[in-house]
Amino acid sequence: MARIVGGIGTSHIPAIGIAMAKQQCAEPYWRDFFQAYWPVRRWLNEVRPTVAVVIYNDHGLNFFLDKMPAFAIGAAANYRNADEGWGLPTLAPFQGDPAFSWHVIEALAAADFDLTTCQEMLVDHGFVVPMQLLWPDANSWPVRTIPIHVNTVQHPLPSPRRCLSFGEVLGHAIESWAANERVVVLGTGGLSHQLDGRRAGFINKPFDLFCMEKIVDEPEILAGYTIRELVRLAGTQGPELIQWLVMRGALGGGVRKLEGNYQVPISNTGSGLLLLEKAA
Ligand code: DHB
Ligand code: FE
Repeated sequence: MARIVGGIGTSHIPAIGIAMAKQQCAEPYWRDFFQAYWPVRRWLNEVRPTVAVVIYNDHGLNFFLDKMPAFAIGAAANYRNADEGWGLPTLAPFQGDPAFSWHVIEALAAADFDLTTCQEMLVDHGFVVPMQLLWPDANSWPVRTIPIHVNTVQHPLPSPRRCLSFGEVLGHAIESWAANERVVVLGTGGLSHQLDGRRAGFINKPFDLFCMEKIVDEPEILAGYTIRELVRLAGTQGPELIQWLVMRGALGGGVRKLEGNYQVPISNTGSGLLLLEKAA
């Protein structure tokens, strides 16, 4: 059977991809940020996941404001990436696993989560930047992927509680797949940031650290916030935290924190990294 080997929460800031492309990772601005990823890369090297389920939000590449599903999932044999305006280089396509995707879709639908199913799907920086951060040798992705988009762009957004529940069902869906896969679940985005409007540049470090602590053992506390409260506390793009809540839900009851890091600011964002393992 498929087994979830762990979950990773990480920011997906486009500037990270630019820094990697320009080989600036050792520069003072970036050094501590990139160093924090080494233990996670080592863990991935040991655990060797075969599939990555990547929870992220599309920012206007595959979906636009005219058509924006709350939850969408890829069921394609491969996923191409493209830059929606940040200047990011295009990386090698990502291999999919359509049979696994359809199993997840069936299981989620049976539990009343009806997703938009995508047999073609372009993936943007929300997906690509974390993949590149975790597997920097970007021309030989060692995992098959299942992209899952959760809307944080066009209001109304799914509530944090809905996302935690979605994750719980997703976890059962993954672990009821008959193939012998080791699955890592990524939740990408956040933490606090606001890219435009009167509070542009807003970051809330105490709230980010609170979220990184609570998501480990008390994700219910975060599920109790409304989207409006998250916008107030973490900025207009702060609700990307719901991607982390899906990841956390998928891990189920008890987890162990293996790594955690927070850097502020990275570009416009309070940048978080968290590696969780299911408790034995
Ligand atoms: C930034 C952060 C994001 O999550 C994003 O999608 C785009 C930009 C930033 O901090 O610049
Ligand atoms: Fe984003």
